[in-house]
Amino acid sequence: MHRRSLPFPALALAAALAWAPVASHAQAPAGKVKVGFMLPYTGTYAALGTAIENGFRLYVQEQGGRLGGREVEYFKVDDESDPAKAPENASKLVKRDQVDVVVGTVHSGVQMGIVKVARENNTLLIIPNAGVDEATGPLCAPNIFRSSFSNWQPGYAMGQVVASRGLKRVVTLTWKYAAGEQSVKGFKEAFEAKGGKVVKELSLPFPNVEFQAQITEIASLKPDAVFVFFAGGGAVKFVKDWAAAGLKDKIPLFASGFLTDGTLEAQGAAAQGLETTLHYGDGLANARDKAFRLEYAKAYKLQPDVYAVQGYDAAQLLAAGAGAVKGDMTRKAEVYKAMEAARVDSPRGAFTLSKAHNPVQDFYLRKVDGRENKVSGVAVRALADPARGCRL
Ligand code: PHB
Repeated sequence: MHRRSLPFPALALAAALAWAPVASHAQAPAGKVKVGFMLPYTGTYAALGTAIENGFRLYVQEQGGRLGGREVEYFKVDDESDPAKAPENASKLVKRDQVDVVVGTVHSGVQMGIVKVARENNTLLIIPNAGVDEATGPLCAPNIFRSSFSNWQPGYAMGQVVASRGLKRVVTLTWKYAAGEQSVKGFKEAFEAKGGKVVKELSLPFPNVEFQAQITEIASLKPDAVFVFFAGGGAVKFVKDWAAAGLKDKIPLFASGFLTDGTLEAQGAAAQGLETTLHYGDGLANARDKAFRLEYAKAYKLQPDVYAVQGYDAAQLLAAGAGAVKGDMTRKAEVYKAMEAARVDSPRGAFTLSKAHNPVQDFYLRKVDGRENKVSGVAVRALADPARGCRL
């Protein structure tokens, strides 16, 4: 504005600054791979965010702290599982920190904001949990990848299991947002195709944990079974309330595996015997999983859960991309191509990606036994999300 009044040294400085971005851009390939974690570090999903970050860092550490030959540098934002703040939080990583890749998040509503920012800026996005169907459906994109699942997948797998037990009338209960609604949709699709009927869909706002009204209504409806979606701190509370209400041995309770993953220590006796479907579980007994568990426990003095696996595999996916361009993340098309073709050697079992960039994977049936979600079988093998509306 006052350019004419600037003394000479200031002008020289201004000129130097004007050149700075060009210089740093030219040097970018020699720099670090910049990873931006956008995850919940507070609230009902806080433990899930931490497990994802732990898993991701573990894989990078196993590669000597490098991907594609470059050192990895981390940036972090706590998304608080708050959809309203999502676009601004994602922009901090993309615009301010200029990360090469956003790794986030857990909550499906927050994910929608990240997807928007990633699409607008052609920033590489790896979703390490949130199942929101749109991300690998109508909003699929060349730069958007997922190392986890779509909300439809575990619900669909459980729909098949419950139908195969000959149970006919089911009531569903979830938090009222995309994750719960879409997992009920997947459940219903499989369950009703095999002759079952969802007689009532109950919900409460996220992240409320006052379940009494819904539990009372379920008791009076007397369904053959109940299907729920809850996770994190809310899942702990629900499982305890369900048992305390005396329904544990009266009405069979089924869920996607998030209900009992990373939560068993806190749920204790109330969780024993619960059956769920998920793309991970205890007792898989493959060498990859054994090694992963050992290393994770050593590094963090904690047992890994599905979230840790998804974080670990997000790093494996990124490694496939970064490796193909020797760490030059500006070669975006080549990065995406290598990631698309990756076969991820996951602790859950190896998986590949669908055309929409969502894992095609086995869904296990698990049963809680002590502090384990013991795998009792495969509910659906190589289940691919239908990716409705994706044009890639
Ligand atoms: C989701 O919001 O998509 C979500 C959150 C927690 C889970 C699973 C899915 O455990």
